[in-house]
Amino acid sequence: MNRLVVVSNRVALVEEGKQQQAGGLAVAIQEALKSRGGIWFGWNGQTVDGPEGPPKITQSGRLTYATLALNERDHAEYYNGFANSTLWPLFHYRLDLASFSGRTYAGYQRVNSLFAGKLAPLLEPDDLIWVHDYHLIPFAEQLRNMGLPQRMGFYLHTPFPAPEILVALPAHEALVRNLCAYDLVGFQTESDLRCFANYIRYEARGEVTELGSNSTGGTGAVRVRAFGRTVTAQAFPISIETELLAGLAAQGANSVQTQRLRDSLVGRALIIGVDRLDYSKGLPQRFEAFQQLLDAYPANRGQVSFMQIAPPSRADVAEYQAIRRELEGMAGHINGRFAEFDWVPIRYLNKSFNRKALAGFYRHARIGLVTPLRDGMNLVAKEYVACQNPEDPGVLVLSRFAGAAKELDAALIVNPYDIGATAENLQRGLTMPLAERRERYEAMMRVLRTNDITHWRQAYVDTLAALEPEQ
Ligand code: F6P
Repeated sequence: MNRLVVVSNRVALVEEGKQQQAGGLAVAIQEALKSRGGIWFGWNGQTVDGPEGPPKITQSGRLTYATLALNERDHAEYYNGFANSTLWPLFHYRLDLASFSGRTYAGYQRVNSLFAGKLAPLLEPDDLIWVHDYHLIPFAEQLRNMGLPQRMGFYLHTPFPAPEILVALPAHEALVRNLCAYDLVGFQTESDLRCFANYIRYEARGEVTELGSNSTGGTGAVRVRAFGRTVTAQAFPISIETELLAGLAAQGANSVQTQRLRDSLVGRALIIGVDRLDYSKGLPQRFEAFQQLLDAYPANRGQVSFMQIAPPSRADVAEYQAIRRELEGMAGHINGRFAEFDWVPIRYLNKSFNRKALAGFYRHARIGLVTPLRDGMNLVAKEYVACQNPEDPGVLVLSRFAGAAKELDAALIVNPYDIGATAENLQRGLTMPLAERRERYEAMMRVLRTNDITHWRQAYVDTLAALEPEQ
C-alpha cells in the first residue's frame, strides 16, 4: 500500500484520545494516514518575524506531522491576500468583494513554491500526494517543476465557479493550468465538476471525455486533456462521522450545557444556526427571514428563539470586519424591536463550542437553519441531521446553494435570497407533523449512513491509487 502524504493549509494535530474534540475531516485524514502510514504537511497557524525555517516534525505512530510557520509578509499576501481576498470571494460568486492584485498573486505562488520545496525532501517515490483546497492549487505544478513524478490529487472544499465568474480573475488560465498538473481533481458536487469541465471545453479549448461512474464510489468522472496533460476529475461529496455524531448527540442531550440551554428556553422552540462568521453564509438574509417570521406569524413572538453561533474568522480581512458590524447592528435592531422582559428573540454568539456541546444543541433545536448564499458542501447541515432524536427529529431548512442540498433533498430547500419564502419554510418546519419529520429525517439519514466521511475518504484515495502514475 502506498504511503499517503496530505498537504493542507492548516494542519490539525489530533492528540491521541482527543478525537472527539477534533473536526471530522481532521480525524478522517488522520485515520487514513495512520492506516497507510504517511505525512500531514502544512502551515501550523502561526506567523513569525523572520524567514520560515525547516518544518517541525512531530511523530505519532506511523503518522508524521510536518508543519511550518509563515512569515508576516507571506501570511498577508498568500493567506489574507490571494487566498481569502481573491479566491474565496471569487469561488463563492462574490465578484463585488474580490480584489485582484499582482502582489498577492505573486505571494500565493511564492508560498506554494516554498511549501513544495520544504516537502520535497520528505517524499518517497511511491507516495500518493493529496493536496487540499484553494490555498494550494499551484502546489503540484511546483513539485512537477522539481521533476517529481508521484501521483498527485487535489480536492477543492469550496465551490468551483462557473467560467463566466472565473474569467474575471486575471490569472484564470494559469490557475486552471496549475490544476491540470494533478492526476486527480476532486470536487464537492457534480455542478462544480460541470463548471470545471465547461472551463476546459470553452475557455481552455481542451478535451473532456465522460467516464461514467467508477467502482470506488465516486460518480460521473471525466477525463480532461488540456495544457499538455491528462487529468481525471470527479465529484466526491464530503461527509461526516454519521454514527459517531448520532451517539455524541444522544449523550450530549443530557450534558450540563444542553440542560442549561433547555432550562433557559422554558419550553420555547429553538431555531439554530452555526457558521463561521463569513459573508458566504447568508447571515444577514437569515436574520431578515427570522424577523419576517415574527412579522408574518406573530404567534411565534415570545414562543420561538433563534440562536446563531458565529465564531469570528479571518478577522484581518476588511470584508469580515464589515459583516461582523452588520450582524451586530441587525441583531440589536431585531432584538430591540421584538424583545420582551422575559424573551430575547435572537441569541447571537461570537464564539465556538466543542463538538459534544454542539451535538446536544442540534438535537434540542426544532429547526436547523443553514442558508448560505453559496457553499461547497456545508457540513453543519449534515451534522444537524445526524444529531436528531430519531423518535422526534427536528427539521432542516437548507439553502439550495449549499452543496449538501443535492444529497439532502428531503430537507426544506429554500432560496436564501427569497426572505419571504424562507420565513414561510421556517413556519412550515415549526408546525410540521411528527410523521413527516420522521420521514424526511430517515431519508436524509439513509444518505448520510451510506456516504459518511470514511466512505468519502476511501473513495478519493482509492481513485487516486488506481490511476496510472505519470499519465
Ligand atoms: O472550507 C473552506 C476552509 O477554508 C477550509 O479550508 C478551512 O479549514 C476553513 O474554511 C476555515 O478557514 P480558515 O482556515 O481560513 O480559518
